[in-house]
Amino acid sequence: MKIKVIVGDITRIEADAIVVNLFEGVERPGGATGAVDKALGGAIAKLIEQGEIKGKLNEVSIIHSLGKVPARIVAVAGLGKQSEFTLDKIRGVAAEFCRSLRKLNCRRVATIVHGGGVGGIEPAGACQAIVEGGLLGLYKFRKHITKEPEHGDVEELLIVERDAAKLQVLEQGCEKGKVIAEATNLARDLVNEPANHMTPSDMASVAEGLAKTHRLRLTILDRERMEKEGMGALLGVARGSRQPPKLIVLSYKGDKASSETLGFIGKGITFDSGGISIKPSEGMAEMKGDMAGGAAVLAALSAIAQLKPKINVTALVPATENLPGGNATKPGDILKAVNGKTIEVVNTDSEGRLILADALAYAVKQGLSPLVDVATLTGACHVALGDFCSGIFGNTQELVDRLVKAGAEAGERLWQMPMYEEYKELNKSEVADIKNTGGRWGGAITAAQFLAEFVGDTPWLHIDIAGTSTTDKERGYLVKGATGVGVRTLVNLALASTK
Ligand code: BES
Ligand code: MN
Ligand code: ZN
Repeated sequence: MKIKVIVGDITRIEADAIVVNLFEGVERPGGATGAVDKALGGAIAKLIEQGEIKGKLNEVSIIHSLGKVPARIVAVAGLGKQSEFTLDKIRGVAAEFCRSLRKLNCRRVATIVHGGGVGGIEPAGACQAIVEGGLLGLYKFRKHITKEPEHGDVEELLIVERDAAKLQVLEQGCEKGKVIAEATNLARDLVNEPANHMTPSDMASVAEGLAKTHRLRLTILDRERMEKEGMGALLGVARGSRQPPKLIVLSYKGDKASSETLGFIGKGITFDSGGISIKPSEGMAEMKGDMAGGAAVLAALSAIAQLKPKINVTALVPATENLPGGNATKPGDILKAVNGKTIEVVNTDSEGRLILADALAYAVKQGLSPLVDVATLTGACHVALGDFCSGIFGNTQELVDRLVKAGAEAGERLWQMPMYEEYKELNKSEVADIKNTGGRWGGAITAAQFLAEFVGDTPWLHIDIAGTSTTDKERGYLVKGATGVGVRTLVNLALASTK
């Protein structure tokens, strides 16, 4: 979809549809909505009076212009209560009107900037949110469907502003929104791909493509190199699969003068069968998405490379399948990680923390700091928090606060979980330094405590996205399937880390 900001009068725009808005409770529309109402001979005001248009959040009212304005359709988007308005609501509204208009066969859609100037929202931020909401809400994963779609796509989104003085800031917001939403949709694509199309080698190829397109540095560690580095935990998980494991290292250098590099680590299990501790078959197909953390960090790097903040960032993705094979790691086996710690594998389905143990310890060895890992780590986190926020854990409160803020600005909610010492005890092994499960209770926390053992004193955060990486129903700018969660938070963190 092409997106452009133009200066003009929305009532005169040649498009299939023009979009104006209404807050709940407003009886006499003003501004651009008022101008369109006038051009339509008072149709909007009349429909408000008759109770058809209420301005409720995400309501999209369709009026056929019948020649009164050049556009075939006038859509009135409900913005809800003005006192409750936020940037994230703009994203949701944009997604709703874009999808509604797609169903009505609109190819060229023009909209005003919704919400700029309301409740402290800057015009650039509002414009960015419209672009993000539109691109994210219209996302579809149809790669493997050979049948033609029912509706064509919205091919062009015009953002129309009356005031020429605002053009430049709106264009900046538009560009940023495009980069961030496209990166999020890239992560969604990788997660939605079935495991036979997204093996560890396929993930490495994706990273290679990103490195070429955005001039990033790429190193891929293969099995032999992992053996040399002593990555016994990652190799232990990879043993059951015929697919060779890959450790993907993708780097952006935006500040050559600085020796500091932020590290993003993403879990890249391209399929999690559970291994010898095999999962029940029901729902196992969902485990093609167990590389969502890895997808998020790669996609975040692609956005960062385009937005060019003055900072260095390296993404690390330990990628492997977790399968039961004749050579697979067995419950009771003991593995040794990069930092020399030995791990008793009580359950081969707790593979995420094993591959992350090596990736985190390797990141520390490479001098990356601070570290942020993103992982579909535990069903327990999903049970604890449900679908509507990710769990965040860390060893440095100031860093936790920064990430929560970066997430909030992106519309990605993060809820901090506790890291009390007592949980650490539960990971104690009688035969090795640590074991890979801490039992049933507080499973998301014991998993995080396990990871903490591999970062030492390096400032570190862990985001558990097991509950948020996919959604089973359409919700605002999220569509069924992968959400691309984490990308926008990580990008915001990188952008905010330059000052
Ligand atoms: N990949 C899963 C966690 C998961 C579950 C992600 C559901 C997304 C949706 C992880 O590897 C796993 O299997 N965790 C186990 C740990 C348990 C064996 C201690 C779990 O959560 O059941
Ligand atoms: Mn597992
Ligand atoms: Zn897993």
